[in-house]
Amino acid sequence: MHHLDISDKERSKKVKYQTLLPQLNALVEGESDLIANISNIVAALKYAMNFFWVGVYFVKENQLVLGPFQGPVACTRIQFGKGVCGTSWQQKAIVNVPNVDEFPGHIACNANSKSEIVLPVFRNKEVFMVLDIDSDRIGAFDVEDEKYLLEVVQIMERL
Ligand code: SME
Repeated sequence: MHHLDISDKERSKKVKYQTLLPQLNALVEGESDLIANISNIVAALKYAMNFFWVGVYFVKENQLVLGPFQGPVACTRIQFGKGVCGTSWQQKAIVNVPNVDEFPGHIACNANSKSEIVLPVFRNKEVFMVLDIDSDRIGAFDVEDEKYLLEVVQIMERL
């Protein structure tokens, strides 16, 4: 009964992530192509969690370059240290922005994006891509999202 202290909203989000994660593992099992696997992971995340935009940017020649995504068209290249994505790459850390209008240097690809979380994905201890998720609500991402999205990143790191 110790779960009574969490709201229905938080509980349902937790259940959605817990249902999604084994499905992601099953989705990539037996397929070795990186782009195919990442494409399916971002599609599953977008539709299971009803996010506004889900996608990855690959580190290519000292820039971030747009990879597989679901949602409206997006900026194709981001410089090191720029925007939320470039900051996550530079800091090698999760950047969780509750209100993008208050983040200095935020790169607005779509005016409907209100909050954003970016997680670095590592290969050989270097950031190899970032996972970027946007919401059309302010303050959409909390520690629960960070915990489960980190598990998604771990699946991506094993691809
Ligand atoms: N807002 C991001 C750019 C990518 S789009 O949100 C898809 C940023 O500031 O890095």
